[in-house]
Amino acid sequence: MSLWSRHKIFETNSIILLIGVLLVISIGGLVEIVPLFYLKSTIEKVEGVRPYTPLELAGRNVYVREGCYNCHSQMIRPLRDEVERYGHYSLAAESMYDRPFQWGSKRTGPDLARVGNKYSDDWHRDHLKDPRAVVPGSIMPSYPWLTEREVDPALVADDMKVQAALGVPYTAEMIAKADADLRIQATTDDPDATALASRYPKAQSRDFDGNAQRISEADALIAYLQMLGTQVDFKLYDNKANIR
Ligand code: HEC
Repeated sequence: MSLWSRHKIFETNSIILLIGVLLVISIGGLVEIVPLFYLKSTIEKVEGVRPYTPLELAGRNVYVREGCYNCHSQMIRPLRDEVERYGHYSLAAESMYDRPFQWGSKRTGPDLARVGNKYSDDWHRDHLKDPRAVVPGSIMPSYPWLTEREVDPALVADDMKVQAALGVPYTAEMIAKADADLRIQATTDDPDATALASRYPKAQSRDFDGNAQRISEADALIAYLQMLGTQVDFKLYDNKANIR
């Protein structure tokens, strides 16, 4: 009996074929699933990645609320054209504290994963208020209310508690200081800025929306945008060739 005629057993009996299919698929499944029980984390730890500051978190909530993800992705794929346009491709660790993640699936506008420090705060403020004021022909909607509406610090502390319950390593101290940290970050030259930076390394603190009188949603959103993609120092990795 040749090998091919033995295969006839599968081809002429649907139940045996089904059992064969299940057997082969389950081997594939086991190879993918079993290692997950042994790995502590599927995300490689990367130096510099930290939870969002209270102000950045508030800004991120505005980003989600306004549906920015409908037009903007935050995921640079490891393809040459993307890397040349946006910078180093996104690492899994860079969105490890994103709940929910903001990778997006549609790019009506450009990817924002590394938009931090690309433009000035004033540019962002004007752009959010009326995109066509700075980019003629832009089809991005205007968000003029962001400079008018204030951030509620109490809500941010509650949000941090929820994020902590989901696994973001916010400490009791960080949650207790949420209100203070939020104010410090949105103010220019606050003497406590070093305390903020000790809790959240590389946190940029200043008056983001150009109005020192209040902490607006624009302050929060711009603080968030200016942080995007700036946590990991890729020069460090390019030199050591740690990440390929
Ligand atoms: C209807 C789609 C759409 C929505 C919704 C949208 N944008 Fe945009 N965005 C665009 C387009 C198109 C551009 C490119 C033209 C421009 O710069 O205005 C853009 C550009 C940008 C840029 C400049 C990016 C760069 O690298 O030049 C930023 C920053 C930005 N958007 C932020 C936001 C934020 C924050 C929100 C939510 C509050 C948002 N966008 C909502 C379409 C959108």
